[in-house]
Amino acid sequence: MHKTKTLTGLLRMLPVTMLLMVGVMAAKAQSIVIPIESKQNAMVLQVGPDKYLDMVYFGNKLPDKNEYNSIAKAYRLNGKTEGYNSAYTSSGNRNLLEPAISVTHADGNKSLDLKYVSHSVTKINDDISLVSITLKDSVYDFGVILNYQTYYNENVTEQWSVIEHHEKHDVVLNKYASANLYLQAGSYWLKHYHGDWAKEMRPEEEQLNHGIKTLDSKLGTRADLFQPPVFMVSLNKPAAEDNGEVLYGNLEWSGNYRIDLEVDPSNNLRLIAGINNYAADYVLKPGVEFTTPKFVYTLSANGKGEASRNLQSWARKYKIVDGEGPRLTLLNNWESTYFNFNENRLAGILKDTKTLGVDLFLLDDGWFGNKYPRNDDRQGLGDWQSNKDKLPDGVAFLTKAASDNGVKFGIWVEPEMVNPKSELYEKHPDWVVKQPQRPEYYMRNQLVLDLTNPKVQDFVFGIVDNLFTKNPALAYIKWDCNSVIYNAHSAYEKNQSNFYTDYVFGLYKVLARLRAKYPKVPMMLCSGGGGRVDYGALQYFTEYWPSDNTEPMERIFIQWEYSYFYPALASSNHVTDWGKEPIKFRTDVAMTGKLGFDIVVSKLKPDELAFCQQAVKTYKEYSEAIWHGNQYRLQDPQDNDVASIMYVDSSKNSAIMFNYLVNNRYATGSKLPIRLKGLQPDRMYTVSEVNLYPGNRSTIVNAVYSGQFLMTVGINPDVRESRTSVLIAVNGAK
Ligand code: GLA
Repeated sequence: MHKTKTLTGLLRMLPVTMLLMVGVMAAKAQSIVIPIESKQNAMVLQVGPDKYLDMVYFGNKLPDKNEYNSIAKAYRLNGKTEGYNSAYTSSGNRNLLEPAISVTHADGNKSLDLKYVSHSVTKINDDISLVSITLKDSVYDFGVILNYQTYYNENVTEQWSVIEHHEKHDVVLNKYASANLYLQAGSYWLKHYHGDWAKEMRPEEEQLNHGIKTLDSKLGTRADLFQPPVFMVSLNKPAAEDNGEVLYGNLEWSGNYRIDLEVDPSNNLRLIAGINNYAADYVLKPGVEFTTPKFVYTLSANGKGEASRNLQSWARKYKIVDGEGPRLTLLNNWESTYFNFNENRLAGILKDTKTLGVDLFLLDDGWFGNKYPRNDDRQGLGDWQSNKDKLPDGVAFLTKAASDNGVKFGIWVEPEMVNPKSELYEKHPDWVVKQPQRPEYYMRNQLVLDLTNPKVQDFVFGIVDNLFTKNPALAYIKWDCNSVIYNAHSAYEKNQSNFYTDYVFGLYKVLARLRAKYPKVPMMLCSGGGGRVDYGALQYFTEYWPSDNTEPMERIFIQWEYSYFYPALASSNHVTDWGKEPIKFRTDVAMTGKLGFDIVVSKLKPDELAFCQQAVKTYKEYSEAIWHGNQYRLQDPQDNDVASIMYVDSSKNSAIMFNYLVNNRYATGSKLPIRLKGLQPDRMYTVSEVNLYPGNRSTIVNAVYSGQFLMTVGINPDVRESRTSVLIAVNGAK
């Protein structure tokens, strides 16, 4: 469990009555209004005369802080609506709404009534500040610290709670949310996602009506296979790309989560986000802090584009590993060989890696297992010794062969999982999550290891650590996770209901240990597609695998939806042989992220190979804009025949625009010019087409335009049936 700021440590020394007196005295001395400001927004919390902490406002900030005192009155938040806007709704008291926290005390009593005690504001640096508010129950020695960490320039807040008690025995947390927000508008529009394997990130948008809409997962691992924990809520009307008020949220948690959105009887929106309490009553010992995962959110008054850029720049700066660093282009062998390879075949692919011009070769599944060789997905998972038939000289041979070819080497692992047909399972059946008295049930012939057990944590850490120790030149890890948790039961846990939550804490412990030892080595977060990506996991990874579906037309839509929440440099996009689109189209689609290939290079026709080699160079030329620049979605594939997205580097000097034909009914193509965004209006830019297929001439005449022209009139990329994908480079004219 994470240790964070421990205000309760100090408060513990004072009896509860004294603590309340501190609060009362503070309240008498001044009315307690707590504004939490970022560059554009203010969230205003307020302590009422009865000591309840309410959230009275979240919106554009005011220049005069004193005016925040008048907000509660303006919204008429008292009277009948009292309690609806609690900043952390506790249960078993007079507040009868959906709680953020609900407990069973050591004596079996189920009431909790949290009141304000004190708060502190800590400026961590010029950008980050932390507001911590201590709440306590007046009958039980039970308290919560609400933490709001604000990233001023990014307009992003991370919110979490630290729960602690000093009762005589264990307390059971029946619900323990990270955040409880309150939004006030005429109407609320929720955009959320659903999907399945190879069908990730399918959007749905709906108006929220009275009652509770819940987004959740109960899958244990790869928890967002069916419903990822990202969403957006627009206020008053569905937000457009450049206008409308919209809140984006993501629970930073890779396990079961639950987000409740409740339009209350006063037509306001209560939002409660946290770990899913389904089958997860958490038994908490006295004096132990329980730190919930963080709920990250950003609010924009200027539409979805700005909200995305807020979150993306925050993620690059503060969350994703090496978010401001470079990324490696690569060649993966999964789809070109599956499990069928040996040293010779891989030596050939290593040469192809060099020929293609990418940075790294990534060896996928199938390199391990001896008693049960991993020649298909039915066995061997868990036995992480290289297979002697396929790789007689081990992984070391491959790292050396890679460096002889002037490329780097990376490897696939799925360390949390085990096939029942494996030496690991034979040796340690008690390390496996399963019901002892029930038949096993598998997803992809495998089971999940019990990461609540410290021995299993050591084992999983050791898999990756051994690979690095034995192969210091190893430069990349693809960390997979293909199964959900069926038959949840741990042979290790005393309290079975702690299992789902402790599993994720166990996973994060392993990942934190790995990151302490290998801080920057690139690791891809994979999960048989995009069943796992969230900002809890991404703090340990450099990139994620959005979907196993690499059919480029599907990918345009999948990547588009991910682009609302995650920066392009984290999206592993591989060019594969899925679908019937030409290699140019497939590559052009993969370039709007972290470019990789998973094709048989030796089977490419000369023109195709020449195109790919040149595309890798073009990609590198514009990678600064794609990886670290600002992203502007220009035309949504859902509503247009041509989808268009662009990236502008931070100096607004270099930009690249990607255009794809996604619908050819009536053969319209790009009839109108598409307006660019994010350029400097008074600057001149040269516009030209790049990434042309060998032998093809561009129909776009190189020309110089002002930023103003490009953003007012736009540029027509001339997308049509014979030009289904067009890349336009925009460079500051000399
Ligand atoms: C998952 C991944 C694939 C590949 C296979 C290997 O399905 O998503 O990319 O690594 O596992 O078994």
